[in-house]
Amino acid sequence: MANLKYEAVRGTNDVLPCESAKWQYVEKSLSDVAYRYGFREVRFPTFEKTELFQRSVGDTTDVVQKEMYTFCTKGGTSITLRPEGTASVARLCLQNGLFAGLMPLKLFYIISCFRYEKPQAGRYREFHQFGAELYGTQEPSSDCEVISFADTALKTLGITDYVLKINSIGCPECRKNFLDALRKYFDGYRDDLCQTCQERLEKNPMRILDCKSDICGKIAAGAPRITEYLCDGCSRHFEALKAALDNIGLRYETDTSIVRGLDYYTKTVFEFVENSTGLTLLAGGRYDGLINELDGNKNICGLGFASGIERLISAMENAHASFGEDRKCKIFIGYIGEKGAAKAAKTVKYLRDNGVSAETDISGRSLKAQMKYADKIGAENTLILGDDEVDKGSGAIRNMRTGECSEIDLDDILDTVR
Ligand code: HAM
Repeated sequence: MANLKYEAVRGTNDVLPCESAKWQYVEKSLSDVAYRYGFREVRFPTFEKTELFQRSVGDTTDVVQKEMYTFCTKGGTSITLRPEGTASVARLCLQNGLFAGLMPLKLFYIISCFRYEKPQAGRYREFHQFGAELYGTQEPSSDCEVISFADTALKTLGITDYVLKINSIGCPECRKNFLDALRKYFDGYRDDLCQTCQERLEKNPMRILDCKSDICGKIAAGAPRITEYLCDGCSRHFEALKAALDNIGLRYETDTSIVRGLDYYTKTVFEFVENSTGLTLLAGGRYDGLINELDGNKNICGLGFASGIERLISAMENAHASFGEDRKCKIFIGYIGEKGAAKAAKTVKYLRDNGVSAETDISGRSLKAQMKYADKIGAENTLILGDDEVDKGSGAIRNMRTGECSEIDLDDILDTVR
């Protein structure tokens, strides 16, 4: 790579022309699946007041403590580039009265996110998420619906090399005893924990379970599991979810080590993990207390998931999945002379106005160079216009794949190339 003065910031990526069709394909396919499941799109600002994320994601999480891009505006307000979408969608619904409408409310989004993480394969500082949120029902069938949506989304993209892991992390009621047990357990390793986790031990020992430090990870491996502390209601919910997944034939593993790194989760949590890379392609869960946390007057349950689009594209590449058809130039119209040039310009304008991708020379090239260019851009057909063709009103169109030529009336060109 060239040694440039102005390089993209570490952990961010450009999408080049040769890659953008993949992004468009993925975004379109995911949106189609969302509509099939009854979800509608929302869009929202890239940044929010910092407090929104502190309150929802949780101020003892890695995301809030270590990874947020936070800055102060000229007016003195603390602003944060969104590290995820759930908090913003909750804010959007509250602010716009969407919870007063028809329930369940099903929304999806495609957004950029920002986290100050250590960049590595599949982990960036600016990345993109396809996410979905469903509000207004406590029924385990809604957990099943969201997981089924996620599964269909991956399969639609041609991704099948993954395992679905599910767990329940209970409600605040059953969490009390669990947190006590965790405190007791981690207290025995107090001095070995990293500085952040020593603080978490008092405030929220559950967050030690997803600390990225090696030593904390090793200690956490022997910690008590939430499943042993679930209350009857949470156990029943989890069993009903498993039965619902069995009913629609969705395979899963129960993994009691999944706790998720965001504070808002209650009951169901899940991850779709790619087998070959071990990367989490998509993750989510239920958050029945989040809306109440943001607006004490509202008791609305919610759940959802998000998936890293960069990871989806790599998984599709790993699976040699299709990114749809290439959008190639349908016809290149070459020319000789002024009359030919004028007719070519007019004809490509007419074709483009009628939905056909057409090109002509705009670089003053010789006919030979024009044809070379047509070949390089992969034009499906070519047509050459000179004085003769313009006078006759017809010309020979050549199919570049088969080499076949056929004489066409220039007035019929739209029907011919379509
Ligand atoms: P999350 O697990 O933090 O959950 O992120 C969801 C997905 O985003 C991950 O599984 C991964 O595919 C992708 N991802 C996360 N961080 C990065 C990164 N640094 N680089 C590339 N990809 C990344 C959430 O964000 C929740 N808001 C999901 C949710 C929605 N839960 C309920 N509703």
